[in-house]
Amino acid sequence: MQSDLFSDSPKTNADSANANPAVRAAWLRAELTRHNHAYYVLDNPSIPDAEYDKLFSELVALEKRHPELCTPDSPTQRVGAAPLPQFEPVHHSVPMLSLGNAFDEGDIAAFDRRVREGLYTDSEIEYATELKFDGLAINLRYEDGVLVQAATRGDGATGENVTPNIRTIKAIPLRLHGDNPPKVIDIRGEVMMFKSDFAKLNARQREAGQKEFANPRNAAAGSLRQLDSRITAQRCLRFFAYGIGLLEGGDMPPSHAALMEWYIALGVPVCPERAVVKGAQGLLDFFNGVALRRPDLPYEIDGVVYKVNQLSEQQRLGFVSRAPRFAVAHKFPAQEATTIVQDIGIQIGRTGAVTPVARLAPVVVGGVTVTNATLHNEDEVKRKDVRIGDTAIVRRAGDVIPEIVAIVPERRPADARYFVMPANCPVCGSPIVKPEDEAVARCSGGWVKCPAQRKAGLLHFVSRRAMDIEGLGEQLVEQLVDKHVINTAADLYRLGLTALAELDRMAEKSAQNVLNALEQSKSTTLARFIYALGIRHVGEATAKELAGHFGKLDVLIDASEEQLLEVADVGPVVARSIRQFFSDSINRELVEQLRAAGIRWAEHEPAAKEEKPLQGKTFVLTGTLPNLMRDEASALVEAAGGKVAGSVSKKTSYVVAGEEAGSKLAKAQELGITILDEDALLKLLKSHEKN
Ligand code: IVH
Repeated sequence: MQSDLFSDSPKTNADSANANPAVRAAWLRAELTRHNHAYYVLDNPSIPDAEYDKLFSELVALEKRHPELCTPDSPTQRVGAAPLPQFEPVHHSVPMLSLGNAFDEGDIAAFDRRVREGLYTDSEIEYATELKFDGLAINLRYEDGVLVQAATRGDGATGENVTPNIRTIKAIPLRLHGDNPPKVIDIRGEVMMFKSDFAKLNARQREAGQKEFANPRNAAAGSLRQLDSRITAQRCLRFFAYGIGLLEGGDMPPSHAALMEWYIALGVPVCPERAVVKGAQGLLDFFNGVALRRPDLPYEIDGVVYKVNQLSEQQRLGFVSRAPRFAVAHKFPAQEATTIVQDIGIQIGRTGAVTPVARLAPVVVGGVTVTNATLHNEDEVKRKDVRIGDTAIVRRAGDVIPEIVAIVPERRPADARYFVMPANCPVCGSPIVKPEDEAVARCSGGWVKCPAQRKAGLLHFVSRRAMDIEGLGEQLVEQLVDKHVINTAADLYRLGLTALAELDRMAEKSAQNVLNALEQSKSTTLARFIYALGIRHVGEATAKELAGHFGKLDVLIDASEEQLLEVADVGPVVARSIRQFFSDSINRELVEQLRAAGIRWAEHEPAAKEEKPLQGKTFVLTGTLPNLMRDEASALVEAAGGKVAGSVSKKTSYVVAGEEAGSKLAKAQELGITILDEDALLKLLKSHEKN
């Protein structure tokens, strides 16, 4: 079914039994290598995973029967080898140097000036620009095209031999492409972990009760410096080449850009985010462009790198101490910093959720002074073992709220104190409650009693992705609520110029701007309006689904839980929450007042109803199924109207368990939930198909 997606699915292997084993093994090696390259280097898969696995198993079996056919560049050699007693030292033929750093336009102008002076020219210099990957530098030695050794940078002169580990990285070719590889080439580049693989790894670590990694760089380093390469093999590391060491028996290309093109031809991954630019302005333009795209890149970078493009010019410029004169790293302001946790307080969200917040000794992170960092919930405080007095690593990325990545255990003072969840809301005094099956504690006051919830709800209502009311920031909302000028979102639309202009730090002009923004916000979309209401569990995506499905607000307001469950994205918990929200007369009254204030949107007829056989049923998948990939199984369940959830609870209808199913299976047995294997799942889906 899936192979339609791929333009060149593999030739059939029906004749494999009859083929000459040596020929067949060579063919399988070539096919698997080609698919690896397409997947990991070109980012363009050429075969479904299941078919890849089939070819791979065939080669493993063939090599087992004929060990003499197993070559060092066989893809089967990527699975890791027996643990090493220690890493052997490797002396680098050409030292692996580091880069000088630049932080602002002045530093870049100075770098460009030094280059021009060094080359005795006034003309604009041609630079190759690329990303500064946040991973580990590695030297890959290929002899006659075959990967023979891989070493870490170490102190630049001597590194560690990590060849068995590097062999497990599928992006790195075990044999270079082309018929005419150089006698010896040292290809240099960065080993790293993509953000998505990092998230998956940490989820696995968490599930296994093991320590999570602080960031992708640490995860990459920890994975590469494993004496047992079978562990590295499970870690999905990546590689981008950016430099060269020794070259023998081959022609050095004329420029850095040409070197990168050569690497691509040799089948070595090179990051596409690179350019050739002219002069200091060209460098800054590249930097600014990358800074904008940075949050969307699939991997972490800590800056960009500029290199004089012509290698002859690089040579003329040479080196100062341990860094080249021809290159510089233009760094982004650091996103992580270390500081002291002076206290742990709490913050009340719009639904009453209590979030522990670390109060920090002020520290500059990514160019901004940070004094608070979220700790998400009580479990997170325990898991990260954050105590008052600890030294913590704080991270701030883009728009995201600063958070504590980890603490530094060695720096814990003897008098460090535990965080204790208060019994009552510090704002309204209502009891703080924590339902047993939830991670989050809540203030039980509700927004009628608790001003903190009112403020948070109003800030959500006016936020950019909700009603998008510019100029109504935190301080203004705070004053409006504290001075009892407003209570609800509907009150916002009753604000007058005088009331606003009387507030602190509010000139008549800004007051008028706020009124204009309020007026403008009245013309909106149903999705934004639903999202703005701040219904628990209804995020932006769900709001869009609800608006699309029901078309009209009144249809949504009257929808039953069963009808809500028909909406993609809506499970039992969300359906109940929506129902509860609209059953509350206070909320319905608020909606009416907002409509009366003139908020309007286009409506359409509700989507036609389509009965699905597994509507309302919740599935949990665990372990490895014999044939279906997890995503495929989820897609089948969802196509039949079922939901796939991540954890087992009383509300789970079925648990689909495969090999090595763990705690979820045990929990399902404990709760007496029906357990299906792959066969039973397929039968269930089929039986419904007939109905
Ligand atoms: S070139 C002689 N290019 O930055 C110059 N390095 O401080 C050698 N790095 O250890 C390095 N991205 O781990 C170069 N595009 C890039 C890079 C890069 C990341 C790292 C590398 C090196 C450190 C230098």
